[in-house]
Amino acid sequence: MIFEHDVVIVGAGGAGLMAALYAKEGGADVAVVSKLHPLRSHTGAAQGGIGAALGNEEEDHWLWHAFDTVKGSDYLGDQDAIETMCQDASRTIVELEHYGVPFSRNKEGKISQRRFGGHTRNFGEAPVRRACHAADRTGHTILHTLYDQCLKNNVRFYDEFQVIDQIMTPEGESAGVVAYEILTGEVHTFHAKIVCYATGGFGRAFKTTSNAHAGTGDGMAILLRNGLPMEDMEFVQFHPTGLYRLGILITEGARGEGGILRNSEGERFMERYAPTVKDLAPRDLVSQCIYKEIQEGRGIKGKEYVHLDLTHVGRDVIEKKLPEIAVFSRTYMGVDPLKEPIPVAPTCHYAMGGIPTDYDGRVEKGNRGDVVPGLYAVGECACVSVHGANRLGTNSLVELVVFGRRAGMRMAREIEQRRDTPRPALPDNPEKTTREMLESILSRTEGEPVVQVRNDLQKTMMDNVSVFRNEETISTALDDLQEIRKRAHNVVIDDKGTQFNTELMDAVEIGFMVDYAESVAACALHRTESRGAHSREDHPKRNDDDWLKHTLFFSNCKGDYDFAYKDVAITRFQPKERKY
Ligand code: FUM
Repeated sequence: MIFEHDVVIVGAGGAGLMAALYAKEGGADVAVVSKLHPLRSHTGAAQGGIGAALGNEEEDHWLWHAFDTVKGSDYLGDQDAIETMCQDASRTIVELEHYGVPFSRNKEGKISQRRFGGHTRNFGEAPVRRACHAADRTGHTILHTLYDQCLKNNVRFYDEFQVIDQIMTPEGESAGVVAYEILTGEVHTFHAKIVCYATGGFGRAFKTTSNAHAGTGDGMAILLRNGLPMEDMEFVQFHPTGLYRLGILITEGARGEGGILRNSEGERFMERYAPTVKDLAPRDLVSQCIYKEIQEGRGIKGKEYVHLDLTHVGRDVIEKKLPEIAVFSRTYMGVDPLKEPIPVAPTCHYAMGGIPTDYDGRVEKGNRGDVVPGLYAVGECACVSVHGANRLGTNSLVELVVFGRRAGMRMAREIEQRRDTPRPALPDNPEKTTREMLESILSRTEGEPVVQVRNDLQKTMMDNVSVFRNEETISTALDDLQEIRKRAHNVVIDDKGTQFNTELMDAVEIGFMVDYAESVAACALHRTESRGAHSREDHPKRNDDDWLKHTLFFSNCKGDYDFAYKDVAITRFQPKERKY
């Protein structure tokens, strides 16, 4: 079947919904195509807050927020984009509140704000209360509110449709996508003037992750396969506090409310590494410090975790401001945070890199301004780039509302300008590649189960390309991935049916996972310096002379790839050594 719309947004998390809302309000006919029900999107797992210099609790300024973001990014973030985001953040919070987000309140009835890693007052003096939150369910409330707004505005939803391919015209213009309807097993074409990817991150490429099962990087892989580059893929964030072995997120807001990290000696070890901000250092630094403590024998009981101590924080704060993580800790670890410290270790959390875009979400082929007609990307799958080499907590939610809105407005304007022009012509048989791939998987009778191949991919990425990497470990991962690619193309599934065949979708996703996992490892090997979340043991220093630039990765998704570069936009803050 062919569905026709002005705009098709792929993915229904916060970025996709914000873009949908604004495109629709601007007069476009908008469809959101998502492999999940929208309310299961991973934005719902964002816990601790959304950053904006409202100054409700103490003095704050957007420029301090911008400085912290630039410094947090280890000076790789594009400062013009960061300024745009931080200047617009406060307006966005008010807008979300008016939409219906039930933010927590302080005693004066204003939106409550708490401390978060790397957010400081007066250019690094001390932590500042900047994270606006709804208890520790901030993303959940934003997701629900934006979904309500989209329904109210008659955005059309296609739930549980897995997008598998991008349709391009021979002239290089986007003409739509091909999707598999999970309920029926039918393949459909979505014919559109504009396609916008909002497919989220790829935490599932690592064994330990805070990401939902759906975080398989589909949009990035689809565009890589269509010859487009990925930017800064080597920068993968490990959140310092995942539940030990499970990876489930324990919000940084817990440290914002006074929680302390302790090693096996009971020492508050972050005081040694970051004397000014201590436990509220940015994530790259805290995760690296946790692993150093473990490597030096100060993990708890000699194991690979440390303690997050909330026992002094008080019942009232935990029940009112951190109820979700208290439940997680009790349910999954049997640990009551009121009485005992929580066992935590770094967990793969966020992709700083992704599909290169301008500030309006338009996908760029490489050079700034060289956009792909009709193609947009927003949210975690995109790289605008406001996070550079390391994202500050709370900035993912700000990014998705600020740049989701900008993309939505831009798409609406573009549709208005193209009102009298037909959709780009579809090529002959746009579903051919997808149908052949699905038929090949369904007809295979020999091969390995997906789970085996996926486990090996996650293990090699975790063992070799996580918080610390070096030439030897990354090369091991790249060798493993070559084998894993062959195996991924020969997986066998038991379910040959057409209705809700999630095993078939797992088989499609493992193919996506190999393609972007290779981009992460290849970019990590290529960048011979340490910067932000990319910590090379064999190149421990940041090297601005050679590497103050974005990496662009191009691949034929058959094992051959190439690199190009893009300058970092620097406006006000010259690169300096980071000290916290
Ligand atoms: O720690 C957290 O609550 C996560 C927030 C974020 O990734 O921005």
